[in-house]
Amino acid sequence: MVDNGPSSPSDSAAGDSGARFDLIVLGGGSGGYAAAFRASELGMRVALVEKDKVGGTCLHYGCIPTKALLHAAEVADSARDSAQLGVKATFEGIDVDGVNKYKDGVVSRLYKGLQGLVKANEVTLIEGEGRLVGPNTVEVDGARYEGRNVVLATGSRSSSLPGLDIDGEKVLSSYEALALDRVPSSVVVLGGGVIGVEFASVWRSFGADVTIVEALPRLVPAEDEAASKVVERTFRKRGITAKTGARFSGVQHTDDGVSVSLENGETVDAEILLVAVGRGPVTDGLGLEDAGVAVDRGFVTTDERLRTSVPGVYAVGDVVHGLQLAHRGFAHGIFVAEDIAGLNPVPIDDAGIPRVTYCDPEVASVGLTEAQAVERLGDDKVETFEYNLAGNGKSQILKTQGFAKLVREKDGPVLGVHLVGARVGELISEAQLIYNWEALPHEVASLIHPHPTQSEALGEAHLALAGKPLHVHG
Ligand code: NAI
Repeated sequence: MVDNGPSSPSDSAAGDSGARFDLIVLGGGSGGYAAAFRASELGMRVALVEKDKVGGTCLHYGCIPTKALLHAAEVADSARDSAQLGVKATFEGIDVDGVNKYKDGVVSRLYKGLQGLVKANEVTLIEGEGRLVGPNTVEVDGARYEGRNVVLATGSRSSSLPGLDIDGEKVLSSYEALALDRVPSSVVVLGGGVIGVEFASVWRSFGADVTIVEALPRLVPAEDEAASKVVERTFRKRGITAKTGARFSGVQHTDDGVSVSLENGETVDAEILLVAVGRGPVTDGLGLEDAGVAVDRGFVTTDERLRTSVPGVYAVGDVVHGLQLAHRGFAHGIFVAEDIAGLNPVPIDDAGIPRVTYCDPEVASVGLTEAQAVERLGDDKVETFEYNLAGNGKSQILKTQGFAKLVREKDGPVLGVHLVGARVGELISEAQLIYNWEALPHEVASLIHPHPTQSEALGEAHLALAGKPLHVHG
């Protein structure tokens, strides 16, 4: 509940020290602006504090620009491979300025739209760096604002390893990599997680020599093992070198780049090193400790309703331990606004949030991996089925390989859906309905999937698990 009920907008001007709000949101990224917009829709008077640009990492330095690069990479590959389809086209190379112009154009149109939404939602935008100076008070550039409720939505930043300095020249994080004005001739990508495989995929399509160094035994180690196998196989065919089970030990600058050494004694030389070993929460300097907000290794501690240890202070998105995904941030933001308004929304379960890695081939999943399901229920209670995209007409047309894998509880609901192949990210929304509604395979099997689409692979996998396979031998 809003402590005293939402108040109507008063005449306090934005920027006035002492202005009072129903909600002050610190951070204007996916989580923060979603909280602000929803709260405003619910009649609250809202301030959004942002030191850079509304839209945050996702819009300006993350999801959107990287997916634009990945689309340009796909177009480059299509041009290269066009003869396979009988289309005569010549691939002449990458015009990095042109690619960046396209990417920046996408970002700036979305940014304009978002700025319009801030106004349309009558959210007061306070530009500057905010910090908590009491449970209900936020200070921005010396001015103080009172909020009945405060949402911490300050996001995350690239992490590095001890002693590994991101210099922005030869050793980059994704932030600098996105602004690069050239295609590097060779790259070492440190970390074979989401950021690592996405950049490896882009750079390879753009013509670079790429080596991924991943400490764990497989690429995309958070995904189902079967997905890692297809990614590794396809990357190998694409000429990307993956060194898995390989730990980084150091980097030296050379005349023309870097020399990266691994704990096994190997060294790999390249023009640049991309560090993609995870992202850490941005909570330093926010005054959390003084305000009494509990923090654990930098992440804000919350309960399942995203309440911090201080009444009236919430946290959303990447500052809360768990999946670091923009759409989780959106969902958190909406949840908190509705919770404050007393609408009693249902808490968000991380396992039900769809995950997409946009490398080529794409990886998309929701729910539990096979290993997680077995760990939770025991080997004898878990059944899986893998439908190979070789049997899917549209995938053949697209010349993509991969699968739709289902993990279910024996005689029970679907517990996990795992997809690999071109464009499968677009299929995961149906999969998340299946998982989140705890659908039984025979219920999904009775739904009709349009032919020829890749969505049929999901239909076929459920038909098979329901005991009536159509295009596979059961
Ligand atoms: P990540 O956690 O996905 O991957 C980091 C990888 O680095 C791990 O596989 C880890 O084993 C490896 N690593 C750590 N230390 C190492 C060492 N010393 N030597 C070799 N390898 C080492 O983190 P990433 O890729 O940096 O992404 C950060 C966050 O951003 C993730 O939570 C990710 O989900 C999110 N993100 C999501 C995207 C999407 O949804 N498509 C796109 C980009 C980022």
